[in-house]
Amino acid sequence: MSDIAEIKIGGQTFEFPVITGTEGEKAIDISKLRDLTGYVTLDSGFKNTGSTKSAITFLDGELGVLKYRGYAIEELAEKSSFLEVTYLLIYGKLPTQSELDNFQNTISRHTLIHEDMKKFLDGYPSKSHPMAQLASLVCSLSTFYPESLKANSSKEELDLTMIKLLAKFPTIVSFIYKKSLGHPLIYPKNKYDYVTNFIHMIFGQRTEEVEIDPVVVNAMNTLLILHADHEQNCSSSTVRIVGSSDCNIYASVSAGISALWGPLHGGANQAVIEMLELIKADGGDTEKWINKAKDKNDPFRMMGFGHRVYKNFDPRAKIIKKACDDVLNKLGINDPVLEIAKKLEEAALSDPYFIDRKLYPNVDFYSGIIYRALGFPTDMFTVLFALGRLPGWIAQWKEMHENNEPIGRPRQIYVGDVDQKFVPINER
Ligand code: CMC
Repeated sequence: MSDIAEIKIGGQTFEFPVITGTEGEKAIDISKLRDLTGYVTLDSGFKNTGSTKSAITFLDGELGVLKYRGYAIEELAEKSSFLEVTYLLIYGKLPTQSELDNFQNTISRHTLIHEDMKKFLDGYPSKSHPMAQLASLVCSLSTFYPESLKANSSKEELDLTMIKLLAKFPTIVSFIYKKSLGHPLIYPKNKYDYVTNFIHMIFGQRTEEVEIDPVVVNAMNTLLILHADHEQNCSSSTVRIVGSSDCNIYASVSAGISALWGPLHGGANQAVIEMLELIKADGGDTEKWINKAKDKNDPFRMMGFGHRVYKNFDPRAKIIKKACDDVLNKLGINDPVLEIAKKLEEAALSDPYFIDRKLYPNVDFYSGIIYRALGFPTDMFTVLFALGRLPGWIAQWKEMHENNEPIGRPRQIYVGDVDQKFVPINER
């Protein structure tokens, strides 16, 4: 088979190399297109455009495959811990026990945040969204660590910055949460592993030692692993494009947090629960809401359904659905919205509208029900997604730097007015 693609423009034929990824994906390398032809490509929403070559995550949307560094998500979710997956994504290999211990110990030494950062928390209105606080607090880390602003730091300095970000992120999340409740802040405990420490800071109390439920820690590990990376999605592409200007990692990740916030991306987990609650309050008529989602004159969309890349099933959703049943059983919780979710899923999966458009439940359809069972309020759900996605953002930022990728700067097709004659303001 030819490894050359031909493009014909105005009777002339131009040749472009075809490149093949390690999993067999094919792409036409059009990096010389404009130089050779004067043309650019137009691909709104980048539906067909590869922005980079990456060795971090592979997914096949038709077959429902997701792998981090070549390891199947199903196996990682079942057999590894979130910190192991974090190491895998960032450093490219599974850690040995001593590498993992060392990683955990180094992170534990950096979990505190500067006490002055608590003053920012005091400044936010009491009901402000935690994602807004998270984005600004993570960006603010760069003001406390000015060494992170240097574009060309040494490998060791960069590594320490990544460790600090990993270490301080759960502390920031927990401080945002505790502050929203008006409760005293709970400080990290270095005797705990990464996820247990997070649960301790979220559900711990100053007054007494709170027992940490392993069911909660296990569920949290699974959820965080499932969210840890997803190749060039909206927020990861944002992190890479912001970082491509040599912007520091705190500011780049902060931009990723903002990108994640929207309900079409990470904000869907909050939107799903709000939707299920709405349907429940409306009497639980799932058919009515399915019809609303199908009606093109109705802005309502079935949140937690559909995916830009998965067109068969989302492998994360399969794992989460099972985890959801397990967690609710183990914690003895009977959540009425779970029944509505299952009815909606059943009805949608047999409806031609959803079948024809290949709309299946995505990772966020059931994650909110688990977060709720674990005791998190709805507006914290997307923050938990961000905590899970952090290693992916870091790995994407690191890879982009190590590959010396150029500054991200798409082209456009200008369709505005041309050659207007300026009219002074008093004559308009
Ligand atoms: N409910 C009803 N119709 C839908 C939905 C939905 N959730 N999603 C897509 N469609 C329809 C859409 O109206 C369009 O129909 P038509 O061809 O008749 O115009 C068709 O399906 C294709 O939709 P699209 O918007 O062109 O697809 P996209 O790839 O641009 O968008 C999506 C993908 C995830 C933004 C979209 O499916 C959606 O809005 N889903 C709900 C939000 C959601 O759950 N997001 C979380 C994604 S998973 C977490 C993450 O990784 O971010």
